Amino acid sequence: MRCKRITVSDFRNIQSAEVCFEDGVNILLGKNAQGKTNLLEAVFYASVGRSFRGATGAQMIRFGEELAHISLDFEASGRDQNIDIRIFKDKQRLAEKNGIRIERLSELMGSFRAVIFCPEHLSLIKDGPSERRGYMDIAISRIYPTYIHSLQRYTHILKQRNALIKDAIKNRDAFDMTIELWSRQLAHEAAIISDIRARFVKRVEKYIAECFKQMTGESEVPSAVYDGSSGQSEEEYLDRARTEERYFELLTSNYDREIANGATLWGIHKDDIDIRLNGKSARIYASQGQQRSLALAMKLAEGEICREEFGDNPVFLFDDVLSELDDIRRDYIMNKMKDKQVIITTCETEFAESAVGARKITVDGGEYRVI
Ligand SMILES: Nc1ncnc2c1ncn2[C@@H]1O[C@H](COP(=O)(O)OP(=O)(O)OP(=O)(O)O)[C@@H](O)[C@H]1O
Ligand SMILES: [Mg+2]
Repeated sequence: MRCKRITVSDFRNIQSAEVCFEDGVNILLGKNAQGKTNLLEAVFYASVGRSFRGATGAQMIRFGEELAHISLDFEASGRDQNIDIRIFKDKQRLAEKNGIRIERLSELMGSFRAVIFCPEHLSLIKDGPSERRGYMDIAISRIYPTYIHSLQRYTHILKQRNALIKDAIKNRDAFDMTIELWSRQLAHEAAIISDIRARFVKRVEKYIAECFKQMTGESEVPSAVYDGSSGQSEEEYLDRARTEERYFELLTSNYDREIANGATLWGIHKDDIDIRLNGKSARIYASQGQQRSLALAMKLAEGEICREEFGDNPVFLFDDVLSELDDIRRDYIMNKMKDKQVIITTCETEFAESAVGARKITVDGGEYRVI
């Protein structure tokens, strides 16, 4: 996968820009608030059709303008390709892939594959389970585009089931008549998703263990284990029939508890990944630098799994992350990136100067210049 060129207009503080990238390391160097992250946001938008900063379409349109435009030329499977997206104020978006209109931005998934890492990703280690579910979902949908459909089906069933539970006191008949049916469907979808997530987490763990071994010798040993809400072991989640029965049993034998809580208490919407360093919870005990390295290793794992699946590295987008790591870890990462394409933002002139062979682009008030 190679990101060749991006043309952007009226996106954030970028009035109009065309930036070309090369293989290997590309550095966006500039002072604060010049448009480094904005450009990465545009590149990533072309990958998944949404902002990695959680911004709405309207927030990304340049102040005072009506529409933002992103056009990305990339190479995938040996072919030159293009993704072109127009974002309108009224939430409308118009997207084309290789000149052909696509109806839903979810269809973009898997076309231009990019992995983003920014300081906020520390939340992968520090924050609650929903961050880690989001991580699994994005990474997995990139590998298996149909996974999104399983998730959508699950969310739909969960909504219906929750509505029944909320209404149970007023409408007990409807509850009694249909709850088992919804529980069966939920258990069925939960088993499929758990299996896929558990397999994914096993692969992530293998990779982060390798990363830490190379980075720290044997002194820091990480682990990551899929932690579902039905209390099975990671291995047991690989048996779909068994998981479905386990979930069905939980869902059909705890109605009173669920009615009291007003929601479904078991299912993949409660999943987590148990991340540890030397056997101790990384969220509670790991240092800042260790947490950063773990989060970064998890993002690199996302890229590595992508490469294993497609025989091609994704493009890595690093927003201001290396400046937070010590020299050993930084060198290790830069070394790892040698045979991949990476776009890194930094405000450190020294770092840019020390990166021999990298393409350097200065960023100043939404303008980009190769130096
Ligand atoms: N919709 C928008 N229209 C115009 N300007 C915007 C819009 N959204 C954000 N900006 C501006 O973009 C600038 C920030 O750009 P960006 O986040 O890319 O900075 P940066 O170069 O990454 O800086 P830092 O080094 O601090 O991370 C801010 O000055 C902000 O006001
Ligand atoms: Mg920034």
